[in-house]
Amino acid sequence: MVGAGISTPSGIPDFRSPRSGLYSNLQQYDLPYPEAIFELTFFSHNPKPFFTLAKELYLRSYRPNVIHYFLRLLHDKGLLLRLYTQNIDGLERVSGIPASKLVEAHGSFASATCTVCRRPFPGKDIWADVTVDRIPRCPVCTGVVKPDIVFFGEALPQRFLMHVVDFPMADLLLILGTSLEVEPFASLSEAVQSSVPRLLINRDLVGPFAWRPRSRDVVQLGDVVHGVERLVELLGWTEELQDLIQQETEKLNRRDR
Ligand code: APR
Ligand code: ZN
Repeated sequence: MVGAGISTPSGIPDFRSPRSGLYSNLQQYDLPYPEAIFELTFFSHNPKPFFTLAKELYLRSYRPNVIHYFLRLLHDKGLLLRLYTQNIDGLERVSGIPASKLVEAHGSFASATCTVCRRPFPGKDIWADVTVDRIPRCPVCTGVVKPDIVFFGEALPQRFLMHVVDFPMADLLLILGTSLEVEPFASLSEAVQSSVPRLLINRDLVGPFAWRPRSRDVVQLGDVVHGVERLVELLGWTEELQDLIQQETEKLNRRDR
């Protein structure tokens, strides 16, 4: 289970860190309160702040970091049952983790939907407008086309329901870089069997690790990169991970040429 904290090392601000978090830096959008940028009511009355944020994410073309590649290595080693992410930056896919192993619980920019007639569109169709600060509109009904990012109050993607099978099956739960503040995602942290170890790597103690810890919980507080690199070292995978990062970085350099 991962959140915005695993993408801060890639340069993408998280949401709730004091001062650096997105929710502390939305002054220019004159929102009634920060979360409004991901609320349908506000979006239908003023979609500009959301699309300005989307443009920022798109134009900066961020790259995966060591956390994403650690998770990719878990997959390569046949150890990753599933990666549940709250992030909408798509860096898990860019790191080479196959879509079959991913649950993007808060959606992604991979697809978009007309907010009026519900027509589906490929996600890439919106960028020609978004990058020049035009609101993308449906060619059929002129309704605003919104990327399939899950807004507060919206249903999570169908794939989220895979948790019903995945979590009872898991024999280890890793929770990296999340405040565990948003439901229903946060409750997944309690969906593994009570005998299953849960490892939290995060700056702060969060969710049930704070108020309902289990006997087999392990908590590594502090910088998430440091915590993951320490775990990788204990696993004896440091070299393998460095090789993977080098190989993937060269691939991305070729892609961006
Ligand atoms: N090292 C360790 N911990 C970090 C680091 C770091 N480099 N950077 C951030 N963190 C921690 C923060 O301290 C915080 O506990 O990661 C957590 C990030 O929490 P949030 O900013 O709340 O992000 P997230 O948990 O993903 O938010 C969940 O809220 O607004 C909605 O839909 C949005 O998916 C998002 C959801
Ligand atoms: Zn339409």
